[in-house]
Amino acid sequence: MRFFTLLALLTLVCALLSSGDATRPAKPQLLVVRGIKAKGFQAPSEDKNASAYVSMTRASRQWSTSHINAYHKRDFDSGIAPTYAIQQAQSWYVNLTIAGKEYPLLLDTGSSDTWIASEGFQCLDLHSAAPIAEADCAFGPLYSPDKEFKPIANENFNITYGGGEFLTGTFGNAQVTLGGISVIQQIAAVTGAGWDGDKISSGMMGFAYPSLTFAFNGTEPQNDVPANQIPYNPLFTTLYKSGKISPVFSLAISRPFTNSGSCMSGKSYKARPADGYLALGGLPPVATTGHWATSPIQYVALGPGYVDGSLPYPQYQFYTITPDSLLYKDSHKTKYRANQWSPLPNPANSSQVQVMLDSGTTLNYLPTEMSYALAALYEPPAVWNDKLGAFSVDCNAKSPDFAVKISGVDFPVDKRDMILDDNTGNGTCIAGNSDGMNYPPYILGDVFMKNALVVFDVGAGELRFRSRGTY
Ligand SMILES: *[C@@H]1O[C@H](CO)[C@@H](O)[C@H](O)[C@H]1NC(C)=O
Ligand SMILES: *[C@@H]1O[C@H](CO)[C@@H](O)[C@H](O)[C@H]1NC(C)=O
Ligand SMILES: *[C@@H]1O[C@H](CO)[C@@H](O)[C@H](O)[C@H]1NC(C)=O
Ligand SMILES: *[C@@H]1O[C@H](CO)[C@@H](O)[C@H](O)[C@H]1NC(C)=O
Ligand SMILES: *[C@@H]1O[C@H](CO)[C@@H](O)[C@H](O)[C@H]1NC(C)=O
Ligand SMILES: *[C@@H]1O[C@H](CO)[C@@H](O)[C@H](O)[C@H]1NC(C)=O
Repeated sequence: MRFFTLLALLTLVCALLSSGDATRPAKPQLLVVRGIKAKGFQAPSEDKNASAYVSMTRASRQWSTSHINAYHKRDFDSGIAPTYAIQQAQSWYVNLTIAGKEYPLLLDTGSSDTWIASEGFQCLDLHSAAPIAEADCAFGPLYSPDKEFKPIANENFNITYGGGEFLTGTFGNAQVTLGGISVIQQIAAVTGAGWDGDKISSGMMGFAYPSLTFAFNGTEPQNDVPANQIPYNPLFTTLYKSGKISPVFSLAISRPFTNSGSCMSGKSYKARPADGYLALGGLPPVATTGHWATSPIQYVALGPGYVDGSLPYPQYQFYTITPDSLLYKDSHKTKYRANQWSPLPNPANSSQVQVMLDSGTTLNYLPTEMSYALAALYEPPAVWNDKLGAFSVDCNAKSPDFAVKISGVDFPVDKRDMILDDNTGNGTCIAGNSDGMNYPPYILGDVFMKNALVVFDVGAGELRFRSRGTY
């Protein structure tokens, strides 16, 4: 049995945000395929404890305001846009071993490429793309491709995330080890980066579908067009295709603090065995309770490639589901009881809000009407803050009860996750749900995922959820 634990006392680091303009883009070109029953390729994997799992560690991250507005800047017109929107300095990384060296990589279920910043890379200004000092990108240990890295000719890596970060680089095949399992994997060695790092992580590990990989033919990124995209098998696909694990992984993201999460209190995070687990082929060692909920992973089709037919259509991209409904409690005075909760108002159909499960996004992003309705339920109410792209709220406000009903099971979001420090250094807070505007699929980010074990059964084409209870 492989078992990696980290006993770390994490000290809270408050990131300071700079201010900037939050411009809202025009309504993007977007096509969401609802209701089409996607199919996995085998029966559901058994929910048993995995023998391979790795600890996740929380990384803090310094953000500019334009990054805070990350999700709003998803550029659908230039192609499929992987999500990556970190707020409140909360992102989780796991170590990937290459040539005997461990690289902390952010784990993102909203994108698919595995990339590492390599020695000698050029750090670029996020807005002007002008060269700036390497240290400004704030990466952890840099990768120095050696004999293990077999370059792939005539292919380049070029990605822009929903947060506006962009990367270019070269591809190679290398033996990588995750949770004790070794495979040969196509990875990108990044040579150009517009990035705001955390000084810990060296890159990212995308766990979404092959259709979201960003390899292009040719060696010049500026010549990349969607039609030249060459999808490849990302790391998780390679792992299960190797036959070493069942085609399932699961995530238990843990809340790393015991108070309301307030950064300004100056308290250190409580030491935990880990800030979460990624399990390969089964479940991680965390306690869960209540009923299991199972929901089919749905196809989405984002980007012009799908509209003009140049990409197979439709197909799996993100881990997208449609919950039964999003729930709130009418009164703060009574305890949560499922049948007392009412669906939030939605102009279309409250039971038809399509969401993706995205470990790389801190907050939940909900339809406008829902996010505003929830904001109004805080006491005192949370108010939209355009600078932050979030609802500002009194750090000591009373949070509303909020739950996501999935396949008949209610998953309440713990009140500790409903208010987060806003990292302005002003000792002020934001609400856990933000306005996803008119851009489905919406996002259940870490605010939700801290409350449930999420099983990504790629083989069966379904997600399974079980409550983590109160912890
Ligand atoms: C990740 O790798 C670093 C560097 O080797 C090590 O210090 C750290 O303990 C590792 N973390 C985990 C969770 O294994
Ligand atoms: C990339 O592939 C396209 C389509 O096959 C081809 O037309 C183009 O010449 C290729 N470009 C390079 C630089 O290889
Ligand atoms: C990356 O590809 C896009 C097209 O997908 C292109 O517009 C952009 O210029 C490329 N980025 C760089 C840095 O060359
Ligand atoms: C799986 O691990 C959890 C947490 O350690 C434990 O409570 C549970 O009993 C284990 N299940 C099995 C079947 O071993
Ligand atoms: C909303 O969607 C649900 C589930 O598909 C359906 O049963 C219900 O009739 C719909 N309601 C409206 C008002 O369309
Ligand atoms: C933080 O406080 C400063 C000084 O009062 C103010 O200028 C700034 O706008 C505040 N930041 C936010 C995001 O409200």
